[in-house]
Amino acid sequence: MRKVDCLIVGAGAAGMMCAAEAGRRGRSVLLVDHAKAPGEKIRISGGGRCNFTNLRTAPENFLSANPRFCISALRRYTQRDFISLVERHGIAYHEKTLGQLFCDDSSKQIVEMLTTELRQAEVRLELSTSVASIARLGSGYRVELSSGSVEAASLVIATGGKSIPKMGATGFAYGVAEQFGIKVMPTRPGLVPLTFDPDTLERLKPLSGISVEAEVACGKTRFAEGLLFTHRGLSGPSILQISSYWREGEEIRIDLAPGTDASEVVLKAKADNPKQAVQTALASVLPKRLAVAIAEEAGTVRPLGDTGDKALRALGERVNRWRVKPSGSEGYRTAEVTLGGIDTASLDQKTMEAKAIPGLYFIGEAVDVTGWLGGYNFQWAWSSGWSAGQAV
Ligand code: FDA
Repeated sequence: MRKVDCLIVGAGAAGMMCAAEAGRRGRSVLLVDHAKAPGEKIRISGGGRCNFTNLRTAPENFLSANPRFCISALRRYTQRDFISLVERHGIAYHEKTLGQLFCDDSSKQIVEMLTTELRQAEVRLELSTSVASIARLGSGYRVELSSGSVEAASLVIATGGKSIPKMGATGFAYGVAEQFGIKVMPTRPGLVPLTFDPDTLERLKPLSGISVEAEVACGKTRFAEGLLFTHRGLSGPSILQISSYWREGEEIRIDLAPGTDASEVVLKAKADNPKQAVQTALASVLPKRLAVAIAEEAGTVRPLGDTGDKALRALGERVNRWRVKPSGSEGYRTAEVTLGGIDTASLDQKTMEAKAIPGLYFIGEAVDVTGWLGGYNFQWAWSSGWSAGQAV
């Protein structure tokens, strides 16, 4: 029987940060993961360059049943703290857009940085290790691992959400919560491409590969970022962002030329040059292939002079106020994150400890705190992991 101060399950972003901090405080820490390598999601993140934080991180960039829960952890360990860590390890980085920080070279540098921190903090890391059972034992926990039994004063669950099961994502954290009577908020895929009914899809398919800067809205929430037409539906940053706010049955509103009144453009073009084709005039505000497709769908592939003002206004509406109802999303198979999770009302916002179950902690994506696209989810993993690391 091995005894440790702290057992952490899940060697992802949050688990590694928590382990390094606890180890540095002199705790004996065992960090286990069922995967063969730590930080696999870090490795594949940000197109291989890891968007590790966002300069503009603020509580407003997170979704949760309790939007105030994340404030304490985000204040205790900020984006600037993580940037200092990255700089101490000599990792070169740059801001891509909208405050998003990426490694210049490779996301593997972030994994290496964290494993170096683990070594320095004398954390024991055991991979290919699964958990068979957890039981409360006096003031601590007895955990049956595939490598044997462990007794731990503190138990940290850092196993993430359900996104990308192919990479080893499991609903493990939710099962542990249920075992201890802790509420789990309903989960659903977030930051995920949206899909459409067969008719809409048929119309969208020829546009596959086109990308535009768009403003996409659902209810009162809107994001102005890139939009990508794919052979399955719509994707790109603006769609991924809105997917976290979209609920089945709702429509989304898309402005394909934000800041430009497309009706005005074509009406002015008609006055200036009535012989010009409608689609050519439209191509001054949209990619050509998209302009042609929209003009075709509106039945206005002809000279501007032969097209009534009403039809041109309707065309502009299609560009600036396209309303479309997604039929669903690509699901956990491609979702970057899982919305919902461990109810924040059950956790201490400063330490992530379960209020009713001393010594049990939940951190990272498993918790009902989900960030926007753009480095916010890793910042939540670092901040919540660091906060628990000070308390275990
Ligand atoms: P994470 O998923 O990182 O780690 C959980 C760990 O637990 C894993 O190592 C897993 O193997 C282990 N585990 C799971 N079940 C277990 C079990 N039953 N027993 C033992 N171990 C178990 N975010 C961001 O801010 N910037 C970005 O660039 C990206 N890019 C990105 C790309 C892609 C393709 C995806 C899927 C996701 C992103 N994200 C992102 C989101 C980000 O990866 C995510 O929010 C964090 O990794 C969450 O960190 P956690 O440590 O909570 O979970």
